[in-house]
Amino acid sequence: MKLWSGRFTQQLDSLAEEFNDSLPFDRAMYRQDITGSIAHCTMLGECGIIDGAEAQTITTALKQILADIDCGKLDAVGAEDIHSFVENELVSRVGDVGKKLHTARSRNDQVATDTRLYVRDAIDETIALLRSLVTALADKAESESATAMPAYTHMQKAQPTTLGHYLCAYAFMFARDAERLRDCRKRVNVLPLGSGACASTTFPIDRELTAKLLGFDGVTQNSLDGVSDRDFVIEYLSCAAQIMLHLSRINEEFVYWSGEEFGYLILPDEYSTGSSIMPQKKNPDVNELLRGKCGRILGDLTSVLALMKGLPLAYNKDMQEDKEPIFDAHKTLSLCLRIFSAFVQKAEFDRNKLNAAAAGGYSCATECADYLASKGLPFRTAHEITGKIVLWCIQNGKTLQEMTVAEYKTFSDLFDDGILTAVLPQSAIARRKTIGGCAPDELKRQISVLRAAVEKTK
Ligand code: ARG
Repeated sequence: MKLWSGRFTQQLDSLAEEFNDSLPFDRAMYRQDITGSIAHCTMLGECGIIDGAEAQTITTALKQILADIDCGKLDAVGAEDIHSFVENELVSRVGDVGKKLHTARSRNDQVATDTRLYVRDAIDETIALLRSLVTALADKAESESATAMPAYTHMQKAQPTTLGHYLCAYAFMFARDAERLRDCRKRVNVLPLGSGACASTTFPIDRELTAKLLGFDGVTQNSLDGVSDRDFVIEYLSCAAQIMLHLSRINEEFVYWSGEEFGYLILPDEYSTGSSIMPQKKNPDVNELLRGKCGRILGDLTSVLALMKGLPLAYNKDMQEDKEPIFDAHKTLSLCLRIFSAFVQKAEFDRNKLNAAAAGGYSCATECADYLASKGLPFRTAHEITGKIVLWCIQNGKTLQEMTVAEYKTFSDLFDDGILTAVLPQSAIARRKTIGGCAPDELKRQISVLRAAVEKTK
């Protein structure tokens, strides 16, 4: 049964019907749709717009419909969209009184409400998943706070740091992602219901009451905006894209860290796969997929940006196309975050390889320059001398750690025995005590900041 058949004499063409229908995908919002209807109906009853007993009949039936879909007894099929499906089902259960539910409401403000409820739920779930991921990274960082490794710039060994410091860098990104979502939630959590089709309603509704019943913080202030705004979708998708981008970056690192050339990461059997022809292979497929799925979500964001770009006020059916990107982003993101948290917990790192790599590529050259600078030499001069030392090392096949004090002294009188420990990666790490640095105590502080940030998102 269509909700709008009155002014038509012909049936909708079957292909056009298939093209128009959104139930195959917007059924994912059945819970939000029914919850929204229960609140709307309760408000209609409270305001005396429909009779209190009628409101009771409708809400009881709606609760039953929700329970029936939840337990699989009722399948949402055979209607234009989830709104039509629920209303048809309601009328088939309670008769004509069910036809009063749509008083003072349009599917335009209804779909905007459902979508906000869905996005709000998605945000809450994602924040909880980010919390687990930040905790998993912080835990790993704690156990790897003494594992030295090279920090890279331009993908070349640059300065020694620790694996704990490295993992914390990503943990801070994911903590910011959670904060960003929390902020986005404020703008999502506003009720558009009551905007009607576009110019609001003549019925004396109480929008504040509906908002309260649905846990919204307030109501939209302009009905044209209320039905046509999808900024909140774009904002959510852009938060989702940012999270995926972070996931993609760390997984890019994990992919090459797991290869023989690096060998930093030992892939857990539970999260890697083999080859059908090469028996020796253990591939980082999970990490590659975590990197690859970023593309989908960037696509979801881009598609809604493009969708909204030229739309005049107020509601346009184009906006039905925002659903699949939202559902896809939510589903993909949840799966990726769940898998990656488990991966981080299981992942093991080859500490010997990481420690051994830390001093490679003359990564302690900055320490040498700093050493001279701390003896009073202008840093620029110290840099120049150290550059010459590195060149000499390259030409003589030595590392900074293999040089003798006598050899150092040929470059500057300011060198003494202290230089031998200054250029050790461990001392380079221990002396980076400044806020943000990799010294063990400073890293401990960063980890506690992360844990506190995670608590704040609760
Ligand atoms: N399925 C529609 C959507 O998602 C519901 C709103 C329909 N409104 C309309 N005027 N055709 O946008």
